[in-house]
Amino acid sequence: MEKHVQIFLNKISYFAITIATLNLIIIFIFQTPPETCINPKLNPNHKPHPKSSCDAAHRPLTTVEKKNGRLWSTNTWRKSVNSFSAIFHDLETLNHISNRSHALILSAGGGQAVMSLNEIGLREITGVELVDSPPLVSRADPHNLPFFDGVFDLGFTANLDQALFPSRYVRELERTVKNGGVIVVCVEECGNDGVIEVLKLFRRSIFSQARNVTLMRSKMTMIVTKRTE
Ligand SMILES: *[C@@H]1O[C@H](CO)[C@@H](O)[C@H](O)[C@H]1NC(C)=O
Ligand SMILES: *[C@@H]1O[C@H](CO)[C@@H](O)[C@H](O)[C@H]1NC(C)=O
Repeated sequence: MEKHVQIFLNKISYFAITIATLNLIIIFIFQTPPETCINPKLNPNHKPHPKSSCDAAHRPLTTVEKKNGRLWSTNTWRKSVNSFSAIFHDLETLNHISNRSHALILSAGGGQAVMSLNEIGLREITGVELVDSPPLVSRADPHNLPFFDGVFDLGFTANLDQALFPSRYVRELERTVKNGGVIVVCVEECGNDGVIEVLKLFRRSIFSQARNVTLMRSKMTMIVTKRTE
């Protein structure tokens, strides 16, 4: 390449770099700070003039409410809740639970059982699951519950079958449910032999009754035990 061409090219690239740098400086100086947290152009659902500046806590909650509103109004959800209500009504009739019972639901899923107990009139219901579903279900490992001993009157689960360590799972239920309380587990439908197998997991409870039920369109066997020392 000839020398004067080389010099010319160098000049051009210096010129380009200078322009680019100037551009950056100009953008940096004259860019106006955003008026809201979220650029309205990026989010079509964004309300243009929030009252408080950056209320981060408010926004996700509204989204959760909307999402729950949609979920809770579906037929599937309603039917699931009703299937739990049938069981809990029976337990109420048998005096196993009352509206003063403090209930623990393990592996509560989306919270169908929690909602059902709430509709029956219980005011203290704790639903836990590995993945939380606010506001009905909080996050906790059923094998290692973050609760003191003997704080619940009712322990309930419809997911003992899926437990990774069933005996540990039941041990935690027995630990957190108080002496005299009730533990109810629903497992895949089974006969006497199956019920006896499940009861072997219990160390501090006595058998009360077993019955076939339908929960969330599955045929299951409900086993009721009474917590004793
Ligand atoms: C709880 O149940 C009792 C007896 O069924 C009833 O009299 C009472 O009003 C109920 N309490 C609440 C808070 O629902
Ligand atoms: C539940 O149903 C199965 C199949 O029909 C039956 O074998 C079993 O004895 C029933 N269990 C109870 C507790 O009624």
